[in-house]
Amino acid sequence: MSNESKVDGGRRRLIVATAAVGGVGAVSALVPFLSSMLPSERAKAAGAPVEVDVSKLEPGQMMTVEWRGKPVWIINRTEEMLQSLVKAADLLVDPKCEEPQQPEYCKNDTRSIKPNLMVVVGICTHLGCSPGQKFKTGAEEGMPPEWLGGFLCPCHGSTFDFAGRVYKNKPAPINLPVPPHTYLSDTRLVIGEEKKGA
Ligand code: FES
Repeated sequence: MSNESKVDGGRRRLIVATAAVGGVGAVSALVPFLSSMLPSERAKAAGAPVEVDVSKLEPGQMMTVEWRGKPVWIINRTEEMLQSLVKAADLLVDPKCEEPQQPEYCKNDTRSIKPNLMVVVGICTHLGCSPGQKFKTGAEEGMPPEWLGGFLCPCHGSTFDFAGRVYKNKPAPINLPVPPHTYLSDTRLVIGEEKKGA
């Protein structure tokens, strides 16, 4: 991953320039940078907010960024994906997001600030596996005919909708968490930081 650091208001923030994984050159370039940091600076960077450019994320596409060592999914949901959230409601453990798995400002029908953009931590709430994309509806990709699209955890079969809400009768007990985040503009968001007063 190609990261660069930038001082913003006296605070270090990681700028995610691309989700591509770098080769050997990228890794070796990173080592002198990390070793030149003091331990306290390293700790700060590890927990620092991550700024993300979503301007190139087309409807129906997903990108993954790392925040505090965790994968955070960002999906630009299509109208069809948003409609599936309504259809799935009766089949979910916590459709109204009563459990504190999201900030208050995402406790709504789409679990998001902007209705189309979903931001969620992609770690299964059962035993921590990484759920995979099952975006196609219906019986394609080995899912049941009534499947509305979302995610399937490969470890024990928990399924999640396009808002990271878990389906009933699956091992995962609660929805995927939505991390604190805010928007700097229509196409730039920061994960790990909240709007003042949010
Ligand atoms: S870890 Fe995901 S279902 Fe068990």
